[in-house]
Amino acid sequence: MKIVILFFVLLILILWIWFSVILWSLRNGISPMPTTDKARKKVLSSIPHETQGVVVDLGSGWGNMVTQLAKLLPHCQVVGYETSPIPFFLSKCWKKFERLSNLQLKRMNFFEASLKDVSLVYCYLYPAAMERLKKKFEEELKPGTVVISNTFAVPGWEPVQILQLADIYHTRIYVYVKNNSNVAALHAKAEDEEIKIPLTMAKK
Ligand SMILES: C[S@@+](CC[C@H](N)C(=O)[O-])C[C@H]1O[C@@H](n2cnc3c(N)ncnc32)[C@H](O)[C@@H]1O
Repeated sequence: MKIVILFFVLLILILWIWFSVILWSLRNGISPMPTTDKARKKVLSSIPHETQGVVVDLGSGWGNMVTQLAKLLPHCQVVGYETSPIPFFLSKCWKKFERLSNLQLKRMNFFEASLKDVSLVYCYLYPAAMERLKKKFEEELKPGTVVISNTFAVPGWEPVQILQLADIYHTRIYVYVKNNSNVAALHAKAEDEEIKIPLTMAKK
């Protein structure tokens, strides 16, 4: 009898987790699909080590990327924004397990967060979110802020660099510098990449 009760409790728990993830994916317009290993390595190797200040992952999901950012940049304050409760909860556990004191995880809609003190933005979202974020970036980000977007470009902005992955999707990772005042470090990083983009002014 106890086994049967345990089975049903577990079943309900699994269904509840599954339902929550699906519901929030529909609500947010995207599932909490993590950045792939290849993309993560590429992104992390392209980030200038001299990056200072606040680094954000807009939609931090299960924490795969944001925890690695916090490890790579221990001198930076790294912030992950996520609304979906299950991925958020697991990313909190991950943070605790890894004892990442420079990582803050906030359960909130990133469109409601201020980006004015941010020095580097990472995101892996979807086209409609990038359209909305473009306006927010233009209004709030300070000149020199680096924006790295996995797969989806910021519409109308000119990347300083495009990293192309050798995966089946030929994934592109777009690197932007707002108003382009901080491009020297990225230029050096760009030298051995597959696609080199002239470091021209990022379009406003
Ligand atoms: C494709 S996942 C990327 C996860 C993580 N950044 C990574 O690269 O591994 C996108 C995440 O953004 C979250 N998201 C989408 N819109 C959001 C919003 N407005 N506020 C907070 N999180 C959001 C989704 O719930 C999802 O977990």
